[in-house]
Formats: sequence, C-alpha cells, structure tokens
Amino acid sequence: MKNRVHNFSAGPATLPLEVLESIREELINYKDIGSSIIEISHRDKTFVEIAEKTEETLRDLLSIPDNYDVLFLQGGATLQFSMIPLNFSHLGDIANYAEIGSWSSKAIKEASKLCNLNICTSSKKNNFTQIDNLNEWDIKSNSSIIHYCKNETIQGIQIKDEPNFEGSVFVDMSSCLFSEDIDVSKYDFIYACAQKNFGPAGITLVIAKKELISKSNPELPNILRYDAHASEKSMLNTPNTFGWYVAGKMFDWYKKEGGIKKMQETSIEKSNKLYSLIDKSDFYINPVNQKQRSICNVVFTLSNPKLDSIFLEESDNEGLKYLKGHRTVGGMRASIYNSLSMDAVESLAHFMRSFETKYG
Ligand SMILES: Cc1ncc(COP(=O)(O)O)c(C=O)c1O
Repeated sequence: MKNRVHNFSAGPATLPLEVLESIREELINYKDIGSSIIEISHRDKTFVEIAEKTEETLRDLLSIPDNYDVLFLQGGATLQFSMIPLNFSHLGDIANYAEIGSWSSKAIKEASKLCNLNICTSSKKNNFTQIDNLNEWDIKSNSSIIHYCKNETIQGIQIKDEPNFEGSVFVDMSSCLFSEDIDVSKYDFIYACAQKNFGPAGITLVIAKKELISKSNPELPNILRYDAHASEKSMLNTPNTFGWYVAGKMFDWYKKEGGIKKMQETSIEKSNKLYSLIDKSDFYINPVNQKQRSICNVVFTLSNPKLDSIFLEESDNEGLKYLKGHRTVGGMRASIYNSLSMDAVESLAHFMRSFETKYG
C-alpha cells in the first residue's frame, strides 16, 4: 500500500497491513451487531466469544500445556516484573536474577525492593555483549524466583537455549515471543507485552503454571494477585478489550502464515541478511557475541559516529523509519519483528551498502 513506510520501531511496532485492514473493516459495525467491538461490554457474548477463541488459538499456536493458565493483563511488561516479586518472593529464601541487559536490570531494581536477591550472572562487565551459558549461572538453592529476559531489546542480545534449573523460572519474552519456537513446558512463567509482536500497547500476556499461580501472595489487593486474575479469567476488572481483539487477529495471522517454526526461520533469515552485511564491513559494527545475537533486534554502530545523524536522516528520507538506537545506548537498531516484511529488511540492506559506498 502506498504511504506505508518500512517501520523498524522496537515497539509499539508495525503490524501486518491485512490485520489493520480487517480491523478497519470491522471497526464501526462488528459483524453486524451495530456497534464497534470497543463499544460493548467485556461480558457481552460477542466479546466473550472473541476472548475464548483468542486463548484457544494461542494455546494451539504455542502448544501450551493444559496445566498452564493464560492471562490477558494490563500494565505492560513493567507491571509483570513488579508483580512477580510481590506475588512469589515468599516461596523461597532468595530470588535469583540475571543481569544481562537494560530490561533485566530494570526488573532487578524493582525486585530488590521486595526480595533477598542473588545476581546469578551479570554481563555488565562486558557491556552486555556476551551472556554466560545458563549452566554456569550461580543459582542459589531454596529460590523463590529465577528471572531473566530472553531477548534484551535494547542491546540486541538473546538467550537461545532453554532453561534447565531447579526452581521456578520466570522469563520476560516481550520482544521474542512468537519469533522463536520455544517449549513452553520448560518455563514456569512467561510474560510479554503486546506492542512488539501481537498488537497495541496496553495488553500483556502471561502464560504460567496453574500450580505456581495458585501460590500467589494472598495478602495483596486482588488487582495485583495472579490467582485472582486467573479465577476471573482475566476479567477481574474491565480488560483491554481492543488489545485482546487485535491479539486474536494476530494469532490467526500467525497460523495462516505457517506458525511459529516458520516465524523463527524467517526471523533468522532476516537477521542474517543484516549481520552478514555488518560482518563483511569495517564500516558497520555489531559487538554482540555471534551466537547470542538477537534475531529480533539488530543493533549496530558506525565506525565513524559522526555519520550517525546523516545515516538516520538519509535512511528516513528513503522511507526506512525509526532506526535510531535506544536513547540510553545510541547507535542504530533495526527491530525486525514478524510483521516486518523481508522486503523491508532487503531495502535496509540495500541502503546500508549504498551508504557505505558513499561515505566509507
Ligand atoms: C524485553 C522488554 N521487557 C520489558 C519491556 C517493558 O514493557 P512495557 O513498556 O510494556 O512495560 C520492554 C519494552 O520495550 C521490553 O522490550
């Protein structure tokens, strides 16, 4: 479609045009009910059907075992890494947290207010460019929480192995859920905000073992208790109905496009196009350990940082948008989530080669 740019935003991120068109089509009068989906009660049969079907499709898509709850919550991933210690720190003596990038560091900051913390690994020393193997982490026993972020969106580094720890494993998958073919049963608690891979900001997914959820701290107000959300089927209060509805459309789109294995293959292919170009040149630099480079967020700097602003200006003029790195780290970042086309990545690669020829 004309006027749609190649959108490399890290989130809120691009969505498939056909999903947006279908939302537009239905927005004023959803399936002839005479109202928009955002104008009806979350308890209305029409919405309840959408909610139930969305969960069913998701369970199928990720092969979520029956002993897991699926919750559609609000407050973003930030509320999740704040609620986790509130709900579960009482389940052990110590909470093991990995410090492997900006988001895991933010989670540590919040957890440190509530838990006795052990930093089980830290890659701060190498500026978050290389993460110790999971089997080298110093996990203390009698642990309430083992927490890490699977894909650090800002540093472009990703843990590709599945965990095998003694203790409950909580993982922030905000920027990689649906891009990697994971085995849900290896995790006790997965959470992800929607605005990268499955919809608008404001709806957040939790996939967690029912047994764990049932041990939520009973002293908290209900709105902060996972068990209260689970027993009310994520309708303890008015949910983000629009976000839930869009998530359903995204899950349908994933199925139609070939499922998660296919998404993973495509993400690897897209990221390799950029990494191979970067590695062949002295003009572009990516400092991340090759095996741990993110297949969702490709970060790079220019060997001459004086060219950064020119790179961003010229790429923007070519319709390659939102390539500026996170304000805390600078440089460039191409977020290449599932909804971003191969064509967009190829256009960026083409631009990067021409830019190097012109200024290198
Ligand atoms: C890996 C990761 N975790 C957490 C967050 C925070 O999400 P939210 O802004 O929805 O709280 C982000 C947002 O960009 C993220 O990329």
